[in-house]
Amino acid sequence: MSTVWLNDRFLPAEQARVSVLDRGFLFGDGVYEVIPVYGGRPFRLQRHLRRLERSLAAVGIDNPATRDQWTARIDELVERNGGGDQGVYLQVTRGVAPRQHVPEGELEPTVLLMSNPLPPRSGIARVSAVTLPDDRWGHCDIKSIALLASVLLRIRARGEGAGEAILLRDGELTEGAASNVFTVLDGVVVTPPVSPRLLPGITREVLLELLRKAGIEAEERPVSEQELRNAREIWLTSSTQEITAVTMLDGREIGDGRPGPTCRRADELYQEYKRLQVE
Ligand code: PDD
Repeated sequence: MSTVWLNDRFLPAEQARVSVLDRGFLFGDGVYEVIPVYGGRPFRLQRHLRRLERSLAAVGIDNPATRDQWTARIDELVERNGGGDQGVYLQVTRGVAPRQHVPEGELEPTVLLMSNPLPPRSGIARVSAVTLPDDRWGHCDIKSIALLASVLLRIRARGEGAGEAILLRDGELTEGAASNVFTVLDGVVVTPPVSPRLLPGITREVLLELLRKAGIEAEERPVSEQELRNAREIWLTSSTQEITAVTMLDGREIGDGRPGPTCRRADELYQEYKRLQVE
């Protein structure tokens, strides 16, 4: 049975209880992070904590812990749950209060940390994707727990036999329902620039750094729907899925239907970087 951190202490997951008046439960009023852990070590933790700070500030919730406190709790959680490769889920909601949209008075944020083992990797994962209109809200750069739109998009994709929904807004690629999207256009890696339309993914950021360091041209610029459809390669990035090749888009093969050469190189760079972090 796994251990979680709730508010001020560690306890077994099945004993963790949150009030029905929690604003996370009633309104989805909170933010979160998902942090991968390799060999017992959180990966790019400072970047995740920085993004958490941004999300909290954007929605006006006080950060309930310092970076050192977050780090210590995450390290202990990972250890209590057996080390190795894990995905840590961190959530902060505005807290418990009578149900009214505008909260009154000082609230105590509700803090949850939990973790699950990451499934063992065997090569680059592959996925079929479908394009769907991006009907989420206008602040997708905030890692909000209010994920109904993303959940419905993923369910719709699943209904069409796909593992991810690749989202289009005003004729341009934004991101996946729970991932960032990279394309290869005329031999150049291209991913949409950070903006309120997409989450500034930590995996995206690491990968851009690694590609550029390896001398592979990588641009951040808008990608039109047409460019997406004509891309030689498409892949997704996220903390839990790492690099996942999109081998089929809307029922049509991408490239030759296998992870392309740039995707394979990107994955090599990423795996090598992960190994260096662990050693
Ligand atoms: N999701 N875009 C969206 C909408 C996401 O939900 C995610 C990650 C990403 C990738 O971000 P990162 O590389 O920092 O994980 C992009 C997490 C994993 C989730 O909701 O489970």
